[in-house]
Amino acid sequence: MKITVIGAGNVGATAAQRIAEKELANEVVLVDIVEGIPQGKGLDMYESGPVEGFDTVVTGTNTYDATAGSEIVVITAGIPRKPGMSRDDLLNTNAGIIKSVTSQVCAKSPNAILIVVSNPLDVMVYVAQKASGFPRERVIGMAGVLDTARYRTFIAMELGVSVEDITALILGGHGDSMVPLPRYTSVAGIPLTELMSQEKIDAIVKRAQNGGIEIVNHLKTGSAFYAPSSAAVQMVEAIVKDKKRILPCAVMLNGEYGIKDTVVGVPVKLGRKGMEQIVEIKLTAEETAMLKKSADDVKVNMDKVA
Ligand code: APR
Repeated sequence: MKITVIGAGNVGATAAQRIAEKELANEVVLVDIVEGIPQGKGLDMYESGPVEGFDTVVTGTNTYDATAGSEIVVITAGIPRKPGMSRDDLLNTNAGIIKSVTSQVCAKSPNAILIVVSNPLDVMVYVAQKASGFPRERVIGMAGVLDTARYRTFIAMELGVSVEDITALILGGHGDSMVPLPRYTSVAGIPLTELMSQEKIDAIVKRAQNGGIEIVNHLKTGSAFYAPSSAAVQMVEAIVKDKKRILPCAVMLNGEYGIKDTVVGVPVKLGRKGMEQIVEIKLTAEETAMLKKSADDVKVNMDKVA
C-alpha cells in the first residue's frame, strides 16, 4: 500500500504522520511545491518511526515520479483561511492548485482513490473529479467526518460523557449551510433529543457550523489541522482496511436525495473500492429543504469554476 499526501503543510504533514503511526501504508509520499519542505518533514517523520514503532517509509518530493502507483491520494494542497475569510474566498486560487496537482498525480496513479481536503471542499471535489476523469466512487471529499467530530465534541462537553458514545450525522456542504440532524444523533443509543433541550441543541449546532472559523480566529495565521487530518485519516483507514464504514463524505450526487450533478455531503459506505454506496435516509420536509439549499450554494460555486 502506497499513499501519497499532496501538500506538506499543516493538514498534509499531520495526516502523513497519522497514517505512518497507524501503519496504514508501507510507504507514504509527501508532495509539496516548496523545495525542501516535503523532503525535510518526510525524513523527520520517518525518523520518528523507531520511537513510535512504525515501519512505514515516509519520503518527500517536489515532483510526481515517486508517487507512481499510489492506491490512495490525499489532496491537501492549497491556501488555508485567515480571519475574516470564508471558505469561498479560497475558491479561485485553490481551484487552480487542485486542478494542477490532480492531473499530475492521476497521470502516475490512474487507479488511485482521491480523498480531497482542500477548501471550499465540495467544489474542490468537483474540480478534482473533472481533472482526474475518475468515476465518482474514487473522488471523495472530507468534511462530514470533521463536522460531526466537532459536533460530537461539543455534545460530549455539554453532557459530560465520552465522545466515543456519541454518534451523529451531518449532511450538506462544508460551510454555514451544513445540515446537522439532531434526530439522528444519539448518545449510547439514546436519542439526543431526549437528553438535551432544543435550545441547547440549536446552540451546539450553531457552534459546529462555525467550528472552522472558531479555530481560524484563535490561530490567526491559518486554519484547523489536527481534527481535519484525523478525519481524513479515518477515511483512509476505512478504505485501506475495507471496513465498510458509514461516514458522511462529500460525493457527486446523481439523483440521490433529489440532487443531481452537485457535490454535497451524504452518508456513504467506504471500503476498498472507495465510495461503495450512498445511503439514503428519510428526511423531513424541513431537512430536505435545508439540504437542497446547501446543494444550491455549492452549485453556485461549482458553476464559477466550471
Ligand atoms: N502543489 C503542491 N503543494 C502545494 C501547491 C501545489 N501546486 N500549492 C500549494 N501547496 C502547498 C503549500 O506549499 C503548503 O505547504 O500546500 C500546503 C498547504 O499547507 P498550509 O498552508 O499549512 O495549509 P493547511 O492548513 O494544510 O490547509 C490546506 O486544507 O483544510 C484545508 O482550507 C484548508 O484549503 C486548505 C487546505
